Amino acid sequence: MEILKPTPQNVSKCAEMLRNGELVAFPTETVYGLGGNALNLKAVAKIFEVKKRPVFDPLIVHISDRKMLQQVVPGLSSAVRKLTEKFWPGPLTIVAEKAELIPDLVTAGMPTVAVRMPNHPVALSLIKRAKMPIAAPSANLFNRTSPTEASAVRQQLQGRVSAVLDGGKCRVGVESTIVKAQGKILSVLRPGAVTVEMLREVFDGKVISVRKPLKEIQPGGIEKHYAPETAAFLADKKLSDTESYILRKMKSSGKKPKLGLVGFGKIRSLTVWDRAVSLSEVKNLNEAAENLFSTMRWMDGLKLDGIVFKRIPEKSVGVAVMDRIRKACHGNNIEDLFK
Ligand code: TXA
Ligand code: MG
Repeated sequence: MEILKPTPQNVSKCAEMLRNGELVAFPTETVYGLGGNALNLKAVAKIFEVKKRPVFDPLIVHISDRKMLQQVVPGLSSAVRKLTEKFWPGPLTIVAEKAELIPDLVTAGMPTVAVRMPNHPVALSLIKRAKMPIAAPSANLFNRTSPTEASAVRQQLQGRVSAVLDGGKCRVGVESTIVKAQGKILSVLRPGAVTVEMLREVFDGKVISVRKPLKEIQPGGIEKHYAPETAAFLADKKLSDTESYILRKMKSSGKKPKLGLVGFGKIRSLTVWDRAVSLSEVKNLNEAAENLFSTMRWMDGLKLDGIVFKRIPEKSVGVAVMDRIRKACHGNNIEDLFK
């Protein structure tokens, strides 16, 4: 796989590849995307194949201007248009009635399509030069962590995609907020950096966050997701409770699993942890979001028996970070490490 510097020549080269139905991985402000021509059924099918993604999980279509928006969703309500005017380009995806020309495979057969205008100069110029809407899920294998740097794309998709444009580390670090309006109600289907509070300031109506049951509302919202390969566990409300529990279990079972801690704030104790790292020593939620997936990948590389995640405050982008952590830990019980 070629990692390309985002020079104008390379962006043009990649746009040409997209026009030819090939796939290109590219940076956005949230995470790297695996792009293909959204109007070309073969290219879209390739995205599912490369990611090993089930076809019931629909894709987000990326646009670079309002003309493309009109092409993809011709009849946008004024309430949703207002949201796009406030937050685009940016980490907000809207779900709205799709135009006929969007293949059913993009939307998993649904009458709605997810659309966003990313806030990244490389993504915008790539889409502009390709002159077409680009379907792009996060550039990871299905159910794995989303890549936040070009090397992470290579790690997962090596040999499966020909090129990745290198835009450095993604500034936001968690995937976009997904919203869907039904009349005066706006449902947040996936939390992201555009928070419920921010949406409430702009949306003319009620904004609700849909936590459960995600499965029915957001087709791809399966409960286990974004997971490292190492078993991940969510700590108790107080981390010290989890630490005491582990110590007790180590004593009673005689087992000493190698454990990593993904913390928040200063790391206080190392007694039970083989490795420990903080998402943000100064407890900055934006920094935690930016570091989340790269930290998961780094921990994964250490070949530990388990990774424990400290809980972080569920305010602002912390809601999105905890959503990803919960999904990574879903169904795992720390007790199992001592059986
Ligand atoms: O930040 C992002 O959104 C990144 C970057 C690359 O733009 N993309 C991303 O795509 O996270 P992906 O495919 O990993 O997640 C897309 C999510 C899926 O969970 C899918 O279920 C949901 O969007 N989605 C797509 N179309 C939908 C629709 N019509 N209705 C409801 N949810 C939809
Ligand atoms: Mg994804």
